[in-house]
Amino acid sequence: MRVSVFGLGYVGAVSCGCLAELGHQVIGVDTNPGKVAMINAGESPVVEDQIGELIASAVRRGALRATADVEAAVRGSEVSLISVATPSKPNYAPDLAAVEAVVRAIGGVLRTKQEPHVIVLRSTVPPGTTEQLIRPILEESAGRALGDRLSLVFNPEFLREGSSVRDFHEPPQTIIGSLDEAGYVAIERLYAGLPGPVVRTSCRVAESVKYLCNVFHAMKIVFANEAGSVLKACGLDGGEVMRIFCQDTQLNISPAYLRPGFAFGGSCLPKEVKGFLTLAREHDVAIPAMGGLLESNEAHIRRAYDLIARDGRRKVALFGLAFKPGTDDMRDSPLVLLAERLLGKGFELAIFDRFVKLSRLMGKNKDFIDREIPHLDRLLRDTPEGALVGAEVIVVGHADEQARSAIVARAGDARIVDLSGYADLRNAAGPGYEGICW
Ligand SMILES: NC(=O)c1ccc[n+]([C@@H]2O[C@H](COP(=O)([O-])OP(=O)(O)OC[C@H]3O[C@@H](n4cnc5c(N)ncnc54)[C@H](O)[C@@H]3O)[C@@H](O)[C@H]2O)c1
Repeated sequence: MRVSVFGLGYVGAVSCGCLAELGHQVIGVDTNPGKVAMINAGESPVVEDQIGELIASAVRRGALRATADVEAAVRGSEVSLISVATPSKPNYAPDLAAVEAVVRAIGGVLRTKQEPHVIVLRSTVPPGTTEQLIRPILEESAGRALGDRLSLVFNPEFLREGSSVRDFHEPPQTIIGSLDEAGYVAIERLYAGLPGPVVRTSCRVAESVKYLCNVFHAMKIVFANEAGSVLKACGLDGGEVMRIFCQDTQLNISPAYLRPGFAFGGSCLPKEVKGFLTLAREHDVAIPAMGGLLESNEAHIRRAYDLIARDGRRKVALFGLAFKPGTDDMRDSPLVLLAERLLGKGFELAIFDRFVKLSRLMGKNKDFIDREIPHLDRLLRDTPEGALVGAEVIVVGHADEQARSAIVARAGDARIVDLSGYADLRNAAGPGYEGICW
C-alpha cells in the first residue's frame, strides 16, 4: 500500500520503518524540518532498538522518504496515518490541536483528490474524539461525507518505547475502530501477516480500550510500588513477594475481578484491605492508591443507590443478598449495605436470595445481619415471583437462571437495575433495563 505517516515522533518513526519493512511504500510527514531531513538521510529521528537499521535500509531501497509537503504526501498515498502528539493541557485535558491541524490539512488536499483515501488516527485520544471532533473537521475540509471515497479509522498504537519494533511485530491485538467497511479492510491489509487477534469495533470502544490500557498499566505500577514499599518497611523483599504473587495466573494476572459490576465485599476483601492499610500506617508508609480502595467501593454502592432512587419509585425487589451467589455469607456484603441504605431512606423492600435461610444463619453471619437489617425475616421472600409482586424497581445483585426468567416474565413496567450484567437478562429486558456500568 502507499502510506503517508503524519508525525515522525516515537510512534510515527517506528511505523515508517516497520511498514516499509512489511512491503509498503511510505512517506513520512513532519512540521519539524530536522526530522524530515534525518529520515531522508536514512537516519532515525528517535533512539529505539533496531529502528536505525530499518529506516536506513528502507530509505536505501526507496521504500521510505519524508517531506513537509502535506499535498505531495496525501496525493502520493492511499492511507494517511496520524501520529502527532496529544499532550496534556494544564487542566489535564488532552491538547488535540495538532491532530485537528493535520486532519484539516489532509482534508484540504482531499477536496481535489478523486481517488479513495483512508485517514487513520493513531494518536491516543479520549472516547468520542474520532466521531464527534475529527469526523466533522474531515468532512468539512474535504468537502465530502464519509463513505464517499473517504474513510476514517481509529487504530490505537500499543508499542512501548524501548521495545517498539518488537512490539510492532508482536502486537497483543490489532484493534480497528472504523466508521465504514473500507476502513476495516484497509487496516487489515496494512498489517497483513502480523500475529495476534484482529478486533473490529467502533471508534469509541477502540479509543476507550487504548485509554484504559495505559490507566491500567499505571495502576499496576502504583500497586506494585505501594505493595513493595510497605513490604520493605516490614523487613521483606517486595520483589520476591510480587514475583510469587504474579505466578498466580488464575486469580491475579488474569481477567478475574476485571468485569465491571457491583462493589466488593464479603468476609475477606474489606478486612484484608483494612489490615494492609493498618500495616502501612504503623510503618508510616503513604499508600494513597490502596488507601482509596474502601472509599471507591463505597462510592460504587452510592452509585447503585442513586440509580435505584433516581425517579422516586419506592417499591424495590432486590435479588441477591449474600456477598456472592451460591453462599449465605452476608458478612460485609455490599448488597446488605445497599439494602440497609434503601430501608433507611424509606424504600419498601422485598428480597429474594435462594441461599439465604434465616433459620440456618448463625455466628458472625447472624450477628452481622441482626445488626444491619434486624427485620430481615419480614423482607425475605421464598420465591422470585413473591419478591416481584408490586415491584416498581427490580435490582439484580445476583440471580440464578430461574430467577432471571421470572424477572423477564414479570417485569412489566418496572425498571430493572442490573448490578451484575447477565447477558440473558440484558438481551431479554425491555427499555426499563439499565446496568450500573453499561
Ligand atoms: N510514545 C509512545 O510510546 C506511544 C505509544 C502509543 C501511543 N502513543 C500516542 O501516539 C501519539 C504520538 O506520540 P509520540 O510519542 O510519537 O509523539 P512525539 O511527540 O514523539 O511526536 C509527535 C510528532 O508530531 C509532529 N507534529 C506535530 N504537529 C504536526 C503537524 N501538524 N504535522 C506533522 N507533524 C506534526 C512533531 O513535530 C513530532 O515529531 C500520542 O498521542 C501518544 O499518546 C505514544
